[in-house]
Amino acid sequence: MLIELRNISKTFDTVQANSGISLVVPPASIQGILGENGAGKSTLMKIFSGFTLPDSGDILLDGERAVIHSPADAIRHGIGMLHQDPLDFPPMRLLDDFLLGREGGLFPDRRGAARAFRELAERFGFVLDPEAWVDSLTVGERQQLEIMRLLWIGSHVLILDEPTTGISLPQKEKLFATLKSLASDGMTILFVSHKLEDVEFLCDSVAILRQGRLVGTAKPPYLTKDLVGMMFGREIAFPERKKSPPGASVLSVNGVSLEGARIRIRGVNIQVRAGEVIGLAGMEGSGQSIFLGACAGLTRPVSGAFCLDERDMTGRSHHDFKREGVAYLPAARLERGLVPGLSLSEHFVLSEKKKGFFIDRRRAKKLSQDRIAAYNIKGEPDSPIESLSGGNQQRMLLALLRDPLSLVLVEHPTRGLDIESTVYIWGKLKERCAGGTSIVFISSDLDEILQYSDRVLVFFAGRVSPPIKAEELSVESLGLLIGGKGWEDFERGEADA
Ligand SMILES: Nc1ncnc2c1ncn2[C@@H]1O[C@H](COP(=O)(O)OP(=O)(O)O)[C@@H](O)[C@H]1O
Ligand SMILES: [Mg+2]
Repeated sequence: MLIELRNISKTFDTVQANSGISLVVPPASIQGILGENGAGKSTLMKIFSGFTLPDSGDILLDGERAVIHSPADAIRHGIGMLHQDPLDFPPMRLLDDFLLGREGGLFPDRRGAARAFRELAERFGFVLDPEAWVDSLTVGERQQLEIMRLLWIGSHVLILDEPTTGISLPQKEKLFATLKSLASDGMTILFVSHKLEDVEFLCDSVAILRQGRLVGTAKPPYLTKDLVGMMFGREIAFPERKKSPPGASVLSVNGVSLEGARIRIRGVNIQVRAGEVIGLAGMEGSGQSIFLGACAGLTRPVSGAFCLDERDMTGRSHHDFKREGVAYLPAARLERGLVPGLSLSEHFVLSEKKKGFFIDRRRAKKLSQDRIAAYNIKGEPDSPIESLSGGNQQRMLLALLRDPLSLVLVEHPTRGLDIESTVYIWGKLKERCAGGTSIVFISSDLDEILQYSDRVLVFFAGRVSPPIKAEELSVESLGLLIGGKGWEDFERGEADA
């Protein structure tokens, strides 16, 4: 089926999740939809599959305008979607799950279904027992079941949203073989991912989304640096790059290995000096977050040591790290950094209380007004925190930081912010560096990493590069490293050492 999406737009509250996206997908092909978290991929696919209504835009199937106002409409048009978060089904046998959505009245033909089930499973080499219970399946097996079900109800367009998250490598290989075979049989496949290697391996064409917009398309042979450039690039006129003079060692990370639920990183070494900014670059989920958390004492290393100001802090609590002047600003700012329901002024009072001051209402108001002015926050002392925009919440978090700080650890300091806020926030962070505070930050924006870091650590699938001077990197070379290319040089270096 020939698919045309025309000018699809969708806004949630203040977020423009899709803006004017147009895309043509030819039949019998695998179309990749690539983009960082939050780029708008799932929204576009939910619109196409009838789970979300667009604010505007059209969908054409084989040249005809299609009305897709519900998942049932989509199914009638032969569009089947595998969701990023598998919908929870009540506990049932695989065969009953398989029968879901099939029109057959109250008395479905179980015997016919069982035959079809076995034939499909055999065709793709899926080992699934129709009488087993769905909740006994792994994520990969559920996916196999769901693909079979969608085929059986007559889908000829298959949408897979981040299907390789949480499945094993053999399952992934089986999935890719299945998708290639389906496409060669005439199926149109939309494959959503933020993983370059999967998209490069599988897709006949790739559309890249960034901040709700379609920023480009590419065909094989893919140039990783072009894909990365489109995924992350942001044309911003940044102020001129300023270097901070390195001071004494604030944080030293010696041969640290860490293990998280999904990732394991080994042998990280870096000495962070006073006033220095270290950027952590990489695809989301490559180990940067767990490393940043470990620098705040939130995860204990399996081996190696963390020292603050030459004092060994390995195995000490987050509270101990805080006492040594470490501040940690996680990405989920409203969930962990700010308290929904409390006003700006209440936040300031709470943060002062932690320092041991008790302040009355009038002083609280004055303090809030001063900080709101100093940090240029668009809000009133009595505004509830959740009424602020993302950029103002980020300013608020910075305004709440106590002094003096030796180290600020911050995840995505400017993600989703406009240029003005971005420049402002970095101005405030750099002010702290001038006073000797060091900053370690995560960003998926290559320009931001190159612009503000003194040195960079690159993360790729749990591997961590040695520190690289930002001036020795370009968008291209950093993009390649993030995509897993060019790591041999480091390994050679390690072998020599
Ligand atoms: N139901 C929703 N309500 C509010 N905001 C949403 C909703 N769905 C998505 N968004 C926002 O829209 C943007 C795009 O999200 P999404 O389409 O899920 O991106 P992706 O799948 O590329 O990670 C994000 O900023 C997200 O927070
Ligand atoms: Mg998504």
